[in-house]
Amino acid sequence: MLKRIVVLVSGGGTNLQALLDAQKRGELTGGEIVAVISSKEGAYALERAAQAGVPGEVVPRRDYPDHRAYSLTLLERCRAWKADLIILAGFMHILTEEFVNAFENAILNVHPALIPSFCGEGFYGLRVHERALEYGVKVTGATVHFVTAEPDGGPIIAQKAVAIREDDTPQTLQRRVMEEAEWKLLPQAAALFCQGRLRVEGRQVHILEEE
Ligand code: GAR
Repeated sequence: MLKRIVVLVSGGGTNLQALLDAQKRGELTGGEIVAVISSKEGAYALERAAQAGVPGEVVPRRDYPDHRAYSLTLLERCRAWKADLIILAGFMHILTEEFVNAFENAILNVHPALIPSFCGEGFYGLRVHERALEYGVKVTGATVHFVTAEPDGGPIIAQKAVAIREDDTPQTLQRRVMEEAEWKLLPQAAALFCQGRLRVEGRQVHILEEE
């Protein structure tokens, strides 16, 4: 049985595109993207889903008074799609403990830094790269991890480093971190999950050999 993947997005959706492309190339072995849910109306990610023939729906964050009400509706939608795996691909909202516990070790997030640097509440999108440049680090990168109730604090599945250049702007750095790290790591981690090759023990994620 293919694992049913629901992807949550909020914006441009280049990470979603990387997942759709991997699926098309037959690299998302063991999984199938069954739906894309956007927190924003008009997000370009929805266009990408439509072009790939994947159903898309909008659950607008601004229609809900708080995180809890929003998370509950999302949880209901993910259950309705019978999700086995939920992927946060540029999803800019924090999920409640209730949501996270309902899908324990079955939610992946991609973060545009080497966790535990430049992560946690308030660190998202371009801001992460602005902070890395301000701090003056010479190396940054991306992390794919399981989602727990602590923002960006769950067990790490994969990380890739990206060198910072003297003339980088937040925009050029963001683009390079995506190209060199995020777009590769996220589909790889999703495929490993779908093949049942990720074993979580405490904070450690062990990658099992292919059978
Ligand atoms: C990506 O860089 C992703 O890692 C980041 O936002 C961007 C979304 O781009 N996510 C976060 O910062 C979450 N904390 P995309 O919509 O083109 O995939």
